[in-house]
Amino acid sequence: MADTDIRRITAPDIRARKGGEPIVALTSYHAHTAGLLDSHVDFILVGDSLGMVMHGLETTVPVTLDMMILQGRAVMRGSKRALIVVDMPFGSYEESPEQAFRNSARVLKETHCGAVKLEGGVRMAETVRFLSERGVPVMGHVGLTPQSINALGSFRARGRDEAEWAPFLDDARAVADAGAFAIVIEAVAEPLARKITAEVAIPTIGIGASPACDGQILVLEDMLGLSPRVPKFVKRYGELAGHIEAAVKAYAADVRSRQFPGSAHVYQLKRKG
Ligand code: KIV
Repeated sequence: MADTDIRRITAPDIRARKGGEPIVALTSYHAHTAGLLDSHVDFILVGDSLGMVMHGLETTVPVTLDMMILQGRAVMRGSKRALIVVDMPFGSYEESPEQAFRNSARVLKETHCGAVKLEGGVRMAETVRFLSERGVPVMGHVGLTPQSINALGSFRARGRDEAEWAPFLDDARAVADAGAFAIVIEAVAEPLARKITAEVAIPTIGIGASPACDGQILVLEDMLGLSPRVPKFVKRYGELAGHIEAAVKAYAADVRSRQFPGSAHVYQLKRKG
């Protein structure tokens, strides 16, 4: 099959996976990592976690729409098959459904991605409906919503006391009823994520949630061992930081001892005649 014939997974394809084979997702912010992920995952999230992971910010709050569009375009260039979902950053959608439409249309037009994600439940339901009815596939995000960190006060897991569950259930139901095609559930008690998954008609994508969710997502750098501190819910599938440091150390030693570049890494004069 020619490269151009590969069909990308769409938001409706993900929506149709409710209750089926688990949906696999990871974050990526670059063309090269997107290329590595593309044939192994169902969707790639260009998460606003890029503010913390790539830029060393304390929170995702300062991330801008231009940052998301730049990295969204890179991930689209690096991939051919996975659905690409781009996060709407804090301040780009909360004011009104019209503001959300204007900015999410920019994201779709300028990156060519297939969907956007936004945080919030009941308070964002009207916006999710407005966007969904106007051709913008929306992934919801409930439970711990990191963009609200200044109001929440901490990144601790939510719903560990059953008495706290009602607003989280309402949030998930509201986003699902408003037309979202899937919903991320972040850092909540396992039985709460299980209950949400059983109650909503759209796929749930867990991160620090439950194996019962319809899919799972992790931040790529966290699972590769590139992030210095990771939440309890991250399983490390690699320890790349150590490998990178060892490679850099070997390169530095080679340069200092003039072992690099060797004869294989330089250009000789062309042979004449
Ligand atoms: O920004 C992000 O990477 C996310 C995931 C943690 C789901 O929203």
